[in-house]
Amino acid sequence: MTQKSFNGKTVLLTAGPTHEPIDPVRFIGNHSTGKMGYALAECFAAMGAKVKLVSGPTNLQTYHANIKVKHVLTAEEMYKAVLKYAEAADVWVFAAAVADYRPKTVADRKIKKAGDELTIELVKNVDIAAALGRQKEEWQFSVGFALETDNENSNAREKLRKKNLDMIVLNSLNDPGAGFAHDTNKITIIEEHATHSFELKSKKEVAQDIVNLIWERIYG
Ligand code: CTP
Ligand code: CA
Repeated sequence: MTQKSFNGKTVLLTAGPTHEPIDPVRFIGNHSTGKMGYALAECFAAMGAKVKLVSGPTNLQTYHANIKVKHVLTAEEMYKAVLKYAEAADVWVFAAAVADYRPKTVADRKIKKAGDELTIELVKNVDIAAALGRQKEEWQFSVGFALETDNENSNAREKLRKKNLDMIVLNSLNDPGAGFAHDTNKITIIEEHATHSFELKSKKEVAQDIVNLIWERIYG
């Protein structure tokens, strides 16, 4: 049996949440812990890939010497870092939970408590995966994630198409033990012509399943 290897390949990964500042002490964020993205980074590195991990704020660390981490805070910073590494990367995996919107203006002083209501105007962030999808070359392989509560498969399929992804990993928030902050995950991997359902597993095992299928598509 030949050993599966990504020797000579570079993998660009996004992971974790983004934080969109409101003022010097507050931000808009989400519950992403980055566990799935960091597990994928270790998996790719263990199989010989050079990994560029663009990470939003997390408590996690990396272990493999072939993982280079670029820490970022906002979607805009994540996008800039991704643009820097994307062109040279063979595989792109967008595992980050990027904030869809950010405050239109960031107050440079702490916002003081005043009236009974406070409205913060938000503007849309760049869709990193979609923007990259428009510059993807034939030899590059891209993978996205989707977390859905409703119409799961059709929404994920729509994202696959819109973002020009080769594969999308669907986590259902309806499955107990899947999604944010759990150590386990239950995924369905959707490709243009195939759907693969997996059992509830540790995020480490889930990462290996995802990476194995990517390997199959590149080398198989
Ligand atoms: N994504 C991204 N940049 C964004 C938003 C999402 O790169 N600004 C990526 C995510 O990393 C993920 C995929 O796009 O791989 C799908 O993210 P998701 O939030 O599920 O989809 P959206 O297109 O943002 O749609 P919605 O949140 O409305 O479901
Ligand atoms: Ca979103």
